[in-house]
Amino acid sequence: MTNLLITGGAGFIGSHTALVLLEAGHRLVVLDSYANSSPEALRRVAELAGPGAAARLQLIEGDIRSEHDLERAFAACSALGGKPADAVIHFAGLKAVGESVAEPLRYWDVNLSGSRQLVGAMQAHGCRTLVFSSSATLYGYPETVPIPETATIAPINPYGHSKAAVEQLLADMAASEPGWRIARLRYFNPVGAHPSGRIGEDPCGIPNNLFPFVSQVAVGRREQLQIFGGDWPTPDGSGVRDYIHVMDLAEGHRAALDVLLAEGPQLLTLNLGSGQGHSVLEVAAAFEAASGRPVPLKIVERRPGDAAITVADPSQAAQRLGWRTSRGLADMCRDGWAWQSANPDGYEA
Ligand SMILES: NC(=O)c1ccc[n+]([C@@H]2O[C@H](COP(=O)([O-])OP(=O)(O)OC[C@H]3O[C@@H](n4cnc5c(N)ncnc54)[C@H](O)[C@@H]3O)[C@@H](O)[C@H]2O)c1
Repeated sequence: MTNLLITGGAGFIGSHTALVLLEAGHRLVVLDSYANSSPEALRRVAELAGPGAAARLQLIEGDIRSEHDLERAFAACSALGGKPADAVIHFAGLKAVGESVAEPLRYWDVNLSGSRQLVGAMQAHGCRTLVFSSSATLYGYPETVPIPETATIAPINPYGHSKAAVEQLLADMAASEPGWRIARLRYFNPVGAHPSGRIGEDPCGIPNNLFPFVSQVAVGRREQLQIFGGDWPTPDGSGVRDYIHVMDLAEGHRAALDVLLAEGPQLLTLNLGSGQGHSVLEVAAAFEAASGRPVPLKIVERRPGDAAITVADPSQAAQRLGWRTSRGLADMCRDGWAWQSANPDGYEA
């Protein structure tokens, strides 16, 4: 049984991954400030994971930028498992592109300084295994689609710059001493929810991403879906993205962790996506079908910084992890709707 420290584990991707890891029998300490989440998510994770799981899950409310909070989290790991943390899965961070343009300092502070502080604490505690949440946003306007990991890193906003900087920091750490086992996982567009509808994405304020927006329109919380550009060079004129079911993504983390723990020191850099593109109009139609509710649309101006088509080449992840996505757009919409319809106000209800 391994002892894992999960930063940001109360968030959307972190909570689903925590469930998969608890189900795999690991012991988890979650460090989260609840800046964009609720502890209720983890209460439900423990419930879903079944009898005895709550005893293998400990929550520490704290900030990754705080040395003191990191000390508390590493101490909790040792107390929970009787040995230091075997690995860290690092989700904590800020992720809204528009907000990052308005508040770059906050993004550099939480995403880069927070990661730097965490890596320093790992070094001090002799923990050298790390799975990091990176992003396809690193690729900026992609030169080729599907996008391989070898594509140029050319982010076009402060969020992407901060992720690129953390990727570089991790590469520098891996080069500095031989023991590091690091996976930099570049997510495409994580959506959907656990099929139970008990946990899901609960963004604070107006959602930045398509999926939570569509589901809030379907449930009647918002009037209509704005589509940014109807004249992209795509089959129906709306932007095309690679959506990945959050449960597939969670399983991708387990697979990456297993490879790092089994194989030894390395720096893995992998796209986690489906390799399939879906347009915004297709997503809206699929969500209408899954929910039985109308999703009124309005096509507005393109947003600066958007690309026409972003789709992953997921072949490296298949080869290195033996992992590929197994859930399609209809599953994403069905499970996203199960969550949204049962929890119209998120975890607040
Ligand atoms: N969701 C996406 O579309 C997407 C895509 C690519 C990469 N990512 C990355 O994946 C990670 C997880 O994303 P998510 O969608 O689950 O986001 P989320 O906001 O739901 O989860 C992030 C979690 O980190 C916590 N957190 C934020 N600042 C913190 C701090 N200073 N100290 C401790 N905890 C803090 C939040 O409270 C939240 O629980 C992020 O690093 C994000 O950049 C997300």
